[in-house]
Amino acid sequence: MLLLSAPIAATLFALPCVVANQFPFLHQTSPEVSLNFSSGRNDAGVFSPQYSSLSALPEKEWAVLSHPLHPKHSVRIKKTNICNDTANGYTGYIDFGARHLFFYFFESRNDPDTDDVIFWTNGGPGGSSASGLFFELGPCRIINEDGPKFHPESWNTNANIFFIDQPIGVGFSYAEFGETVVTTEDAAIDVAAFVSIFFDNFSQFKGRSFHMAGESYGGRYLPIFASAVYDQNEVRIGAGLPPINLTSVMIGNGLTDTTRMILSYYDYQCTHTSVEPFVDISSCIRMKGMVDRCEKWMRKACLDHFDLIDCTAAYDHCGSVYSTPFYLTGRNPYDVRQPCHGELTDTICYPQTTHIRDFLNDPTNRAMLGVDDDFKGKWAVYSPLVNSQFEKAGDYLHTTTDYVAALLERDIRVLIYVGTSDWICNHIGNERWTLAMDWSGKKEFVEAEKREWFVDGKKAGLTRSAKGFTYATVDGAGHMVPYNKPKEALEMIQRWLAKEKL
Ligand SMILES: *[C@@H]1O[C@H](CO)[C@@H](O)[C@H](O)[C@H]1NC(C)=O
Ligand SMILES: *[C@@H]1O[C@H](CO)[C@@H](O)[C@H](O)[C@H]1NC(C)=O
Ligand SMILES: *[C@@H]1O[C@H](CO)[C@@H](O)[C@H](O)[C@H]1NC(C)=O
Ligand SMILES: *[C@@H]1O[C@H](CO)[C@@H](O)[C@H](O)[C@H]1NC(C)=O
Repeated sequence: MLLLSAPIAATLFALPCVVANQFPFLHQTSPEVSLNFSSGRNDAGVFSPQYSSLSALPEKEWAVLSHPLHPKHSVRIKKTNICNDTANGYTGYIDFGARHLFFYFFESRNDPDTDDVIFWTNGGPGGSSASGLFFELGPCRIINEDGPKFHPESWNTNANIFFIDQPIGVGFSYAEFGETVVTTEDAAIDVAAFVSIFFDNFSQFKGRSFHMAGESYGGRYLPIFASAVYDQNEVRIGAGLPPINLTSVMIGNGLTDTTRMILSYYDYQCTHTSVEPFVDISSCIRMKGMVDRCEKWMRKACLDHFDLIDCTAAYDHCGSVYSTPFYLTGRNPYDVRQPCHGELTDTICYPQTTHIRDFLNDPTNRAMLGVDDDFKGKWAVYSPLVNSQFEKAGDYLHTTTDYVAALLERDIRVLIYVGTSDWICNHIGNERWTLAMDWSGKKEFVEAEKREWFVDGKKAGLTRSAKGFTYATVDGAGHMVPYNKPKEALEMIQRWLAKEKL
């Protein structure tokens, strides 16, 4: 969910772009420090036998998994009753020197031993995947003060699923010594190592069909994460290990092509699309007058010849031209049908998320999850610090469509789905890049009919599909599709996993 993407950040949090070019080097801080990590942690009884099955994992202590291909990474995992006896859950950390990434894992409700595995990440940058879990699509949701409640339309209905807090600085993930990860490429290293360690150490999942999913800034994360997992297979095969069976990428309301998304704000606010025009005429005239200019500027500074300072300036300026009138309306950027409830950076416009925060900051629940004592901070749905670090590093300036194309060329299927009431990563900007993307299936995709798709005989949205690439809208849903339309979202991914047509 989430995201205070470039355009908002550019307007709300003014960016000191003169120092931005120093930031990409921060991540090179050496992780090779020798430390006694055991002192502050919940790991009194760490041990490392060979675990071949998840159900053999203990509840009171971590099992620690290592891997010769990833000597600097290890994974800690334990059984955890996250959902009050309504799901088989596990929690753990991916440790990489001073970096510790927290994750949740749930077995499928159907057949964990044969069902596919889904990896889920929220966006931001800075959004915790616990919001995806407890607010959108997890086996249990926290929507009031009563704690986790069974969620019938969970995506673990017939798939095993991970929720990962990444990069460090997000949710329960943290690092010692102020180490940071400020680019998607860097975040991908930890994700790919984790995937490798997990699939090798739990032999029950070996060769299992694997899907990488997420939303919002996930439109940038996932194509790069999936590419890292795909490329890593070469190394795995060389080392005599089976490849990770990466099968598909699923992106909900993603930010994949920032240029097209910024320009689409004009159409979304000022023309008749899924909603009536809702911004005053004079602002619309100003926005329209800037469309050509912003397009040329962003193309020249960001795409034709990337120049960090000029590109940042273009996004700052154009982002502000198109998003300022929106924020003045007071509408929820994730669902224009309603006002933003609460402080955007605190509740992300949904006050229900405060119940998740209260649950995750309760010391008993944190001990149950196994959150390290070394992590002193509070869990928050969104980290403004991580967001601004990514922004300063210019991470969002890069379009990720070439990664999507590269994955499609390698027969990795890609699903782009978009709730039509979302403004911030809206369907217009998303549809435009799916049509403009260069790949060998372009002609077929562009010429494919855009047709209605149905759930229980009712129109759920529109879809277009060719050669493993599917674009779909979801009516009546905002940015967090599974929150607004749980049934349609589950039907959609079930058909996708089963390789059926929507
Ligand atoms: C690490 O810390 C623990 C707990 O304080 C202590 O028992 C142990 O001896 C330390 N190990 C090393 C190698 O210093
Ligand atoms: C995890 O898998 C790797 C690769 O097969 C193996 O070398 C390592 O010993 C395993 N570790 C544990 C703790 O099972
Ligand atoms: C767990 O579920 C039981 C009954 O299903 C309920 O009585 C109890 O209050 C729940 N606990 C929490 C922490 O939600
Ligand atoms: C990958 O998963 C699919 C099922 O989706 C299966 O048909 C295929 O054999 C698997 N590939 C490998 C290499 O295990």
